Amino acid sequence: MDANSPVAQFISKTTTSLAEATFVRLALSSPVADGDVPQKILGRFVRIKGVSQLSLTLRHNTRDVTRNLPIAEVATWLAGELQSSFRCAMLGTTTRDWQFISDRNGTARLVDHRPKTSASPSREHDQKHQGVLDANARDWLQGLDVLDRDGKVRASMADKHRQINRYLEIVSHLAKECGWTDAAASQTPLRFVDMGCGKGYLTFGLWHLFHRIWKRPVQVIGVETRHDLVATTNQLARRLPADGLSFIAGDIASAKLSAWGEEERGSNVDALIALHACNTATDDAIRRGIGLGAKLIIVSPCCHKELRPQLGKPEPLGPVLRHGVMEERMAEWATDGLRGMFLEWAGYRTKIMEFVASEHTPKNLMIAAVLEHEPFQNEEGRRRIERFKKFFGVATHALDPLLNPCASPAK
Ligand SMILES: C[S@@+](CC[C@H](N)C(=O)[O-])C[C@H]1O[C@@H](n2cnc3c(N)ncnc32)[C@H](O)[C@@H]1O
Repeated sequence: MDANSPVAQFISKTTTSLAEATFVRLALSSPVADGDVPQKILGRFVRIKGVSQLSLTLRHNTRDVTRNLPIAEVATWLAGELQSSFRCAMLGTTTRDWQFISDRNGTARLVDHRPKTSASPSREHDQKHQGVLDANARDWLQGLDVLDRDGKVRASMADKHRQINRYLEIVSHLAKECGWTDAAASQTPLRFVDMGCGKGYLTFGLWHLFHRIWKRPVQVIGVETRHDLVATTNQLARRLPADGLSFIAGDIASAKLSAWGEEERGSNVDALIALHACNTATDDAIRRGIGLGAKLIIVSPCCHKELRPQLGKPEPLGPVLRHGVMEERMAEWATDGLRGMFLEWAGYRTKIMEFVASEHTPKNLMIAAVLEHEPFQNEEGRRRIERFKKFFGVATHALDPLLNPCASPAK
């Protein structure tokens, strides 16, 4: 192979970055062949039992296969893949990102870009970071395909595993603030609802933390519009069996939480969680949580579409907000800032924090609110919201009904 060819240079950049520990990630894409071949291969630099390896995820259409490659074999393996199996590759390093592109005729080029990140990820294998997800969590983590048959975190699910762990750490702190971890706490089951629970990763996690780790009576309901997801999560909950955990099909704003026998304690909940619910579904969840008298509300917003078309360009921000990306970030900032202020007006002590490091997911903001005051009493709270909206030219916000204390939020 010609040492100056794009493929040789790409291989050399890869092996150098592994040797110098500037490697961040590797991705091969655009497979040459059709059929049941990997559509992508993703590589991470890991250290397993002290030995450095490239951990590969071979992403097929319907499954992932993982294998670990000794560093000494990377150059030969990569040459084979780029000469016969894949047309494109991306190498991320802490100093430069490198893109290899070849066309159908075999003409190739190498392009470099500013690095996406200047921090190298942890080299430790995920098995070391089990945290709250102890060996007892293996059944449901396997059921949700986060762990493989041997109980190892699937490479493609490492971020999800980290996210569940981090979320449970945060919930542990908040549960202490709510007094739910005291041995003397009431034995009346706590009621939690996870709105827009999707595949149930965090719903099972919440149940695991209270039921299995803290041995605290708990009833957890996951609410999800997609019937197929509700069927599979219920199946898994029954198979474990997960006493006190169930899933229902419904909408965040209106789902009937009837599994709780509402006649006994009304329809109140202790905690309402909604992670990555799209756009104003997060606001529906906040309103629902307030209406249900939740002591704890946790949301992690997803996309933000409501405010952007309404945002004015108040001076002196105008010259900055004429840039689309800055306007988008400001719309997100204003949306989540307003959510926090609405929760404070509703009597909640509110924190806005980063949930997981931004290199793992861009959806990493979390708003956590603990009910501490009589709702809708602090008129200054309402005035703050109105001043903020006026400054940015926001005419309507999905939480505006809360500004009228006579309106009764959804139960
Ligand atoms: C991005 S996923 C997040 C799933 C889960 N909360 C998590 O963080 O892993 C959002 C989920 O919310 C569901 N969803 C969106 N809007 C909803 C609504 N109004 N009511 C109930 N579920 C909703 C979607 O079907 C999807 O499964």
